[in-house]
Amino acid sequence: MIRARVIGTGHYLPERVLTNFDLEKMMDTSDEWIRQRTGIEQRHVAAPDQATSDLAVLAAQRALKDAGLAPFDIDLIICCTTTPDHLFPATACLIQHRIEARNAAAFDLNAACSGFVYGLATATAFIESGRFRRVLLIGAEVATNRLNWKNRDTAVLFGDGAGAVVLQGEEGERGVLSTYLAADGADAHLLMLPAGGSRIVPTKENIGTEVHDFQMRGQELFKRAVLAFGSAIQKALEQNGISASDVDLFIPHQANVRIIQAAADRAGLSGDKVFLNLDKVGNTTAASIPIALDQALQAGRVVPGKLILLAAFGAGLTWGSAVIRW
Ligand code: COA
Repeated sequence: MIRARVIGTGHYLPERVLTNFDLEKMMDTSDEWIRQRTGIEQRHVAAPDQATSDLAVLAAQRALKDAGLAPFDIDLIICCTTTPDHLFPATACLIQHRIEARNAAAFDLNAACSGFVYGLATATAFIESGRFRRVLLIGAEVATNRLNWKNRDTAVLFGDGAGAVVLQGEEGERGVLSTYLAADGADAHLLMLPAGGSRIVPTKENIGTEVHDFQMRGQELFKRAVLAFGSAIQKALEQNGISASDVDLFIPHQANVRIIQAAADRAGLSGDKVFLNLDKVGNTTAASIPIALDQALQAGRVVPGKLILLAAFGAGLTWGSAVIRW
């Protein structure tokens, strides 16, 4: 059977770092509150002239180098993002041009913080069907320039960054073993950016009003996230006929350390099997898992033969999981 195997990874984080202490000077918050409630200590912030594709290109080039491939080897580029450079064309097309991946089809995928897991399922399906052999899958976000820095509810949570993986179709036991995706649009209102699409177009009257801010019902989301992570993990274990003790490393979407710990505890995943980097990067939405995966590889925590579990939850609502035999 043809499996989708990750043959290269890369990530890019913008140079500028904004610490919780910096935020203390900008709004009514404290390092202590942010660390205790979220686990975040700092986040990276894109420069004013850096858009999502700029971060994505750097992550993609690193992943291609790691894979030992040339850009023209890539058949498909999927860019998972909620903060595309433009409403259209797709950011994936801009990346395709910038890295000169002339043979690649390209499209964007928006499943918010679950974007990478949705993208992985999509790429895997294309590869397993034989339609494409090599897919460049990117998660990239510049969220900080959409934040209202007076709104402490959301401003303290998010950071910018990009992560990329190259997937290749190969025979064998290594690669993506399973994916699981779910959604519940009934609770779309729990996390959204209302304006900018066709429902609320930007007008002179609404610029500067709350319809252009991230709107989030934090406590409700928190509860939904713990349940959704739990169900996504359970499905992943069932799909593979394994138990939590068989998992070597759990790389969750990095939203809040308390959500991750609650989900891991419920699933019976011990703390030493959970990879965390949100203290240093915050919630980078669709970029969160590929950044964490690349850092986990660099830290020697992902090595051939290991069983890696990914799980994510985000706006939509969306959630899902994947199991990879590395
Ligand atoms: N700094 C200081 N105080 C803050 C604050 C901040 N940044 N944000 C909120 N507070 C205050 C509140 O006003 C409230 O004060 P009060 O008790 O005087 O009313 C108090 O802290 C507690 O607020 P609450 O919202 O109950 O905190 P919480 O423990 O639920 O934590 C979140 C808030 C947002 C960190 C948490 O709900 C969360 O992480 N939710 C999920 C969000 C998320 O992950 N979104 C992305 C999904 S992928």
